[in-house]
Amino acid sequence: MTAADPVKVMKQEVGKAAAALVQSSSIVGLGTGSTTAYAIQFIGDRLKSGELKDIVGVPTSFQAEVLAKQYGIPLTTLDAIDHIDIAIDGADEVDPQKNLVKGGGAAHTREKVVDYLAERFIVVVDGGKLVDRLGAAFPVPVEVIPMAVNPVMQAIKKLGGKPELRMGVRKAGPVITDQGNMVIDVTFDTIENPVDLEKILNNIPGVLENGIFVNCVDKVLIGEVIDGQPTVREM
Ligand code: A5P
Repeated sequence: MTAADPVKVMKQEVGKAAAALVQSSSIVGLGTGSTTAYAIQFIGDRLKSGELKDIVGVPTSFQAEVLAKQYGIPLTTLDAIDHIDIAIDGADEVDPQKNLVKGGGAAHTREKVVDYLAERFIVVVDGGKLVDRLGAAFPVPVEVIPMAVNPVMQAIKKLGGKPELRMGVRKAGPVITDQGNMVIDVTFDTIENPVDLEKILNNIPGVLENGIFVNCVDKVLIGEVIDGQPTVREM
């Protein structure tokens, strides 16, 4: 018998810790990514066991929607509700102020809508996502309508960023988002002020949304493997 992959177990543990924060009779934002996938699974397990009742989920992507259906979580849309109680989502970078870079799965536009609406936004990450400054390890994803890709890239270069159109894996051509747009990944030498950069990027005509999330996180749960043992701590 092979030993369980400690990274997978750690992601499961942090997903489980986040799922445990969901209470009955709540509207839950369901994030995207490999860590949140375990939170969705454990919310489904708690519903199935009867420990949780009367939950509805708001998915942030096609992936989240598929997983929620697989694990028996009833879904709703933003047309049918007036608030979200709690959202659980992953991140690609977390800085000491709990600002984030998201969008590694090209889902940051819907994630931002749902996560920002939530009364409590819980982020689930592994320790490798913690950075002193955003942009240090991960480019900033920018969702762009297809006809504006070239002018947006030019505008980003003028801001000092290095733009790269995200290409598909096992699919020829660019990544197409759930909204039918494209993603430009932008590397910056340093991001001095994420609050300003988020606004500046979103002001470029043709940009739908970028992956900088500021002043919106309530709790960051961090999974780590220490001496081969998966652990979860709060930031
Ligand atoms: C999706 O677009 C992203 O924002 C994800 O939430 C982020 O990439 C984290 O994913 P993992 O949990 O798979 O690292």
